[in-house]
Amino acid sequence: MILVTGGAGFIGANFVLDWLAACNESIVNLDKLTYAGNLENLTSLRDNARHVFVQGDIGDRALVDDLLARHRPCAVINFAAESHVDRSIHGPAEFIETNVVGTFNLLEAVRAHWSALPADEQETFRFLHVSTDEVYGSLGPTDPAFSETTAYAPNSPYSASKAASDHLVRAYHHTYGLPVLTTNCSNNYGPLQFPEKLIPLVIHNALAGKSLPIYGDGSNVRDWLYVGDHCSAIRRVLEAGRVGETYNIGGCNEKTNLDVVNTLCAILDELHSGSPVTPHARLITFVKDRPGHDQRYAIDASKIERELGWTPSETFETGIRKTVAWYLAHQDWVNHVTSGEYRSWVSRNYADTHA
Ligand code: NAD
Ligand code: TYD
Repeated sequence: MILVTGGAGFIGANFVLDWLAACNESIVNLDKLTYAGNLENLTSLRDNARHVFVQGDIGDRALVDDLLARHRPCAVINFAAESHVDRSIHGPAEFIETNVVGTFNLLEAVRAHWSALPADEQETFRFLHVSTDEVYGSLGPTDPAFSETTAYAPNSPYSASKAASDHLVRAYHHTYGLPVLTTNCSNNYGPLQFPEKLIPLVIHNALAGKSLPIYGDGSNVRDWLYVGDHCSAIRRVLEAGRVGETYNIGGCNEKTNLDVVNTLCAILDELHSGSPVTPHARLITFVKDRPGHDQRYAIDASKIERELGWTPSETFETGIRKTVAWYLAHQDWVNHVTSGEYRSWVSRNYADTHA
């Protein structure tokens, strides 16, 4: 049995689905079901006795204590977070609450639980914290990619809150000996991603014939990793990562935002050729830049490859095509998650950029 937090969100749900398909261990899935958490991501598990879903907050100490005592997981994997940079700019408080205070609470509960385990269970227990490359800040065009020893320099309230949580995780190992692992991954894309992030937002808007908002001049660079590859990397780190270590995970796919959007438009022209708005690239609109927008992220993933033999199995070209096909085939999912709160968030905060 493992305890996963945030397993109804984008990466967490992909992880839960992949895990249950790949191995025999069961999952307790603790998720608060914020706007980003969606039980529809897990409908295929409705009758699966190996998946126990619990709606709740990682900041609820009594609940986390109870889940640990009742299920005695051999590992905790922490995906739960507020994850969107733009939201952190408009309202940072929830990011501090969940990403910093929530992770602290989870660590405290896990520490108490782990300290009371028999020695053999203590030895094999793991706390894996899922983090981001954004903690390293922004790179210039010719700077070397982020390695595990790059100094932290977070620039947004989101990345600062994730950096704080990474430091707490590190300190719990250093001070208390808690057997932790941390992964810092680049930008994910793939099925089940909420359409507030660049790739699903562009697909969603293009299908609706709406403008495709590109911040600034579109020259910002991100490294893109297919979500299934992130999940396989986490499984590998959990299985064989050295306790107390951090592992950078990336796809070796540095692209400018403009390249990403043009690629999406070209695939949509092909896979959705009956659309009245072909060529989709004519929907591209350059809008006011994000404040404090990091220019470039790039990951040096040589440590995880060298030590654990992990490499991604999708290229950007194969992964992005699969992703567009998934969104085209799952318009119901998109329609459900983009009703209600999503619409009011867009009109409240993006009135001038996301028409
Ligand atoms: P997401 O926003 O899609 O999902 C987050 C999930 O956490 C949701 O299901 C939400 O309901 C849940 N949650 C939020 N607050 C909670 C709380 N207090 N208690 C319990 N559950 C709570 O995020 P994602 O993109 O799936 O990211 C998952 C993790 O991976 C995050 O920690 C994020 O920082 C990290 N990460 C994301 C990316 C990316 O590109 N999306 C890249 C690297 C790392
Ligand atoms: P995003 O998906 O929000 O991820 P992150 O900020 O965590 O990297 O954004 C990816 C890139 O796309 C980032 O450089 C900001 C840019 N972007 C746009 O140009 N337009 C948009 O509407 C969004 C949401 C993002």
